[in-house]
Amino acid sequence: MRSDFSRVSGKTGVFCVIGDPIEHTLSPAMYNACFREMGLDYVFVAFRVSRESISEAVASMKALDFFGIAVTIPHKAAILSLLDEIDPVAASIGAVNVICKRDSKLKGFNTDGIGARRALIENGIIPRRKKILMIGAGGAAKAIGFVLAPEVSELKIFNRTLGNAEALADLLRSRFHKRISAFQLGTQQIAQQLSDIDILINSTSVGLQQDETLKWVDPSALKPDSCVFDIITTETELSKEARRCGLKVVTGLDMLVYQGVEAFRHWFGSQPPVNTMFEAV
Ligand code: ATR
Repeated sequence: MRSDFSRVSGKTGVFCVIGDPIEHTLSPAMYNACFREMGLDYVFVAFRVSRESISEAVASMKALDFFGIAVTIPHKAAILSLLDEIDPVAASIGAVNVICKRDSKLKGFNTDGIGARRALIENGIIPRRKKILMIGAGGAAKAIGFVLAPEVSELKIFNRTLGNAEALADLLRSRFHKRISAFQLGTQQIAQQLSDIDILINSTSVGLQQDETLKWVDPSALKPDSCVFDIITTETELSKEARRCGLKVVTGLDMLVYQGVEAFRHWFGSQPPVNTMFEAV
């Protein structure tokens, strides 16, 4: 692995990502590549921060004058109460994945949903007036739901714990007044819906481990012009099977890069080199 510390000086600004676990994060590679390409005097590092240490970590980052912070699992919700200001979208979602420092104050944003939407659009999939089936009702699902719900024609949320799907569906319906419903996750229940769906989204962590598969979905039952979006950054069994069926597939790698593009815009107010970010991850 190539490390380039020769350019780090007393003036170099520091960014970081915090999470637990953090060893596999792609954020340092993605942003350091941008900084190099754009000639910006910053470095991006990763810190493993346990749940117990999150408030001390945030206080330290303020004291140490970090320029910006990316936040990942398990801190996206817990960190809200530790910040000075929360963007309204992030407040509604109840999760922050990007923190900016402005006038010594930390402000939190959520770029996951915007990143997911842009990942679809850059792959030629326009969510407007589409029927969406989303598996999962956790933090990622909420971020995606908040961004897609206003424009889609219908959203069906399937989840292992039905109550969580119902809570998310209620929240989105009351906010956006769209056709949004909740279902128990199960092979039969999903099979009944697949022929009428334009975009199938896996927002769960199933597939993160190589031996896990999203066994409830048979992509061959989807319409030929439909698309599968799996937020896992690696190629999952679901993605592979969907490709074998000739369907369009969007992976979490695209979502990761485009949420990063949006994070970069919050930090610097400018557009990063997207190709460089893709090459780095
Ligand atoms: P994130 O912030 O990454 O979305 P989360 O908020 O913990 O993480 O949500 C994880 C989602 O994946 C939930 O919808 C969870 O279902 P439950 O609400 O029933 O917990 C889902 N999930 C995680 N592991 C799963 C599994 N093995 N099978 C089915 N769903 C799973």
